[in-house]
Amino acid sequence: MAEVDLATKQDGQVVTPWEVEADGEEGIDYDKLIDRFGSQRISPELIERMERLTGVKAHPWLRRGIFFSHRDFEQILDLYEQKKPFYLYTGRGPSSDALHMGHLIPFMFTKWLQDTFDVPLVIQMTDDEKYLWKGDHETNTIEKFYELGKENAKDIIACGFDINKTFIFSNLEYIGHMYPTIVRIEKAVTYSQAKGIFGFTDSDNIGKHSFPAIQAAPSFPVAFPHIFGNDTEPLCLIPCAIDQDPYFRMTRDVAPRLGWKKPALLHSKFFPALTGSKTKMSASDASTTIYVSDTPDMIKTKVNKYAFSGGQVSLEDQKNTGANLEVDVAYQWMRFFCDDDSVLQKIEQEYGPGPVRAGNKMLTGEAKQLLISTLQPIISRHQQARAAVSNEMVETFMTPRTLKFTR
Ligand code: TYM
Ligand code: TRP
Repeated sequence: MAEVDLATKQDGQVVTPWEVEADGEEGIDYDKLIDRFGSQRISPELIERMERLTGVKAHPWLRRGIFFSHRDFEQILDLYEQKKPFYLYTGRGPSSDALHMGHLIPFMFTKWLQDTFDVPLVIQMTDDEKYLWKGDHETNTIEKFYELGKENAKDIIACGFDINKTFIFSNLEYIGHMYPTIVRIEKAVTYSQAKGIFGFTDSDNIGKHSFPAIQAAPSFPVAFPHIFGNDTEPLCLIPCAIDQDPYFRMTRDVAPRLGWKKPALLHSKFFPALTGSKTKMSASDASTTIYVSDTPDMIKTKVNKYAFSGGQVSLEDQKNTGANLEVDVAYQWMRFFCDDDSVLQKIEQEYGPGPVRAGNKMLTGEAKQLLISTLQPIISRHQQARAAVSNEMVETFMTPRTLKFTR
């Protein structure tokens, strides 16, 4: 895609659904992104209000600023307070056999939101999107992406979603049910708007040009007649990494014209690639990506071999100045996956910037070892949960049906 949205490509930083690249080792400048996208910061006050209303301590990813930006989340809290309906929507583009650690973030967080708010959830598998976007190689058949969607659904179910409150769907299968919603959205967006937001060019196939309407549709309860009937009241809350925001800027723009409510959003930062924060972790480079299917030994080898270190080159320098935590992948990953604040603090004090204080200065190898022993049990637990997901369960999650919820 040649010209990318002017709103997303500036200052050398690129954030689109297809490409994430920072201009320096320290990663994406998220403050700039908030200003450019016109979203809101998640403030400590907002987090406190959520804790007060739900009686549940905020998820570490909220406390640590990993979910950092939102649109209209106050409205969701208002509805919760008034016992009025809302629902969750998230999704996955099935491009690989297994999810990587970065993909777990929106799903683990969505699971926490479902438990905390007790609301229905819909999960879109965009097998159609991956077919439209992947090249013409003979292995990229429509059947392949449909099957990857079913495989990925097992990893998603393994995150612990409530089968009575969750509907997972393949676009290829479910499309007819939401087609009236899709056609209405398609009619409300012009070609030049889509080009402006997504950077489509004349040589992109026409499926790509209309796909954004398909990702937009689940933001409206009318796309799920078996769940919501024709009730237009329930508001949609979408947890995702901020790369997906262009789709929902378009969605929020068309909503009022169709007489529907704009979906609310919670945006996360990117889980960085093993090789450094310049890019998000992506599924395409197997040696430097940690998949939820990796063995304990693979995790150990990949972290030791590829994790970008913010440590100093000489032992003496490391003792005198300490590591640059902003770029250190072991520390950055611990911020995502280590729930224990005291372990993080230990790394900050003993490994981070500043000369050696009490005791020894921690070296990169030790910081990596802490990461390895944090990831291994999380991934084994995930693998056990996935092994317990039967094909029948997948079928049930993916069957259009009524869901059980109280508001
Ligand atoms: P996909 O499969 O590229 O990504 C699935 C979800 O994972 C998030 N994500 C990440 N989060 C943190 N760190 C990373 N390194 C990272 N990489 C990916 C994505 O933001 C996304 O939330 N078109 C979508 C599928 C989709 C969707 C949705 C996503 C359809 N409807 C609604 C979110 C909400 C896609 O290909 O996602
Ligand atoms: N970057 C290393 C670290 O933080 C520091 C280091 C460089 C080192 N050379 C060394 C440590 C030799 C021990 C021995 O771990």
